[in-house]
Amino acid sequence: MDKIRNLINITDLTVEEINLLIETADDIEANPEKYRDVCAHKKLATLFFEPSTRTRLSFEAAMLELGGSVLGFSDAGSSSSTKGESVRDTIRIVGNYADIIAMRHPREGAPIAAAQKTVVPIINAGDGGHFHPTQTLTDLLTISRKKGRLDDLTVGLCGDLKFGRTVHSLVDAMLRYENVRFVLISPDELKMPEYVKDKMNAAGAKWTEVEGLEEAIPDLDILYMTRIQKERFDSAEEYERLKDSYVLDTEKLKPAKSDMIVLHPLPRVNEISVEVDDDPRACYFYQALCGKHIRMALILYLLNLIPKAGAGSASGGGSPETNAAVLRDDICCANPKCITSTEQELKHLFRLTDEKRGIYRCVYCDGEHVEEK
Ligand code: CP
Repeated sequence: MDKIRNLINITDLTVEEINLLIETADDIEANPEKYRDVCAHKKLATLFFEPSTRTRLSFEAAMLELGGSVLGFSDAGSSSSTKGESVRDTIRIVGNYADIIAMRHPREGAPIAAAQKTVVPIINAGDGGHFHPTQTLTDLLTISRKKGRLDDLTVGLCGDLKFGRTVHSLVDAMLRYENVRFVLISPDELKMPEYVKDKMNAAGAKWTEVEGLEEAIPDLDILYMTRIQKERFDSAEEYERLKDSYVLDTEKLKPAKSDMIVLHPLPRVNEISVEVDDDPRACYFYQALCGKHIRMALILYLLNLIPKAGAGSASGGGSPETNAAVLRDDICCANPKCITSTEQELKHLFRLTDEKRGIYRCVYCDGEHVEEK
């Protein structure tokens, strides 16, 4: 029997697998009739403990267009999590009712906890401010279709880089392509987390950090705008102060390259002025369509309905106990947004990520612990 493959982090997929998903998504777009019934009698469960328009509906549309059916909930309030049921128990139950699960959860690392008990493939549809791998597949498909390549690119990431799960996953993905440079554009309070910068440094990537969008824009091949996310702030005052840090308008686009593309995972609030929608470089609505095509390809792949490419990490995350020899269980995660802070039965586990600096990271949320020397 094939081992269950999950998608928790984008690095659970090899570059070969991502390329296969992109090729399949292109074939789905060109030949939709070929795929009309391939998921007949298969069920997708969408478990959304946090709001969503694009991710949930594109997953559901993807399964319906493949001939399968969908079940699930779009609001944690209508699930038994309100009665105190753990993520791991929920997943164990839903595995009886569905062939594949897409789950969004506000707690960072929740999909790793879920994957420990799943009997069907589980897809991380966003965990708090941590990761959003299927948005990244969407972004890669859009870039591939619009730029014709995934290497030799200067990528500007702009806005909330601290809590922006889409940019964390996009960096993870693009680090594996040749000659990709990153320009990190954010206010000081919303800078890219250290654990992401550590990965960029370890990969030898070129990156710079600036506050002004205007100074960065002329060099970019891709401008990836993000929303300042009200729901991630502890302080309403801080949100009010930072919410309009960046507003892309036609004036600001003037010095940009004529073939630069503007991406945004959406929803937007006012970080992209509506006048930009008519600019041929604006690709964010097209990006949402790409999301349906790539999620169709991903469902087929995880259900073993298309041939395998070079396989990625063992089970696609979710089994920290299997590497217990290299993990420490005597450190408590201090991140209040980590799944371990609400689900008491989960063992706190840390892995050593930087021996020289004594840095350990939580296996669930990447929260940092520095060992005093
Ligand atoms: N891009 C994205 O995740 O959008 P939703 O929150 O609407 O799913």
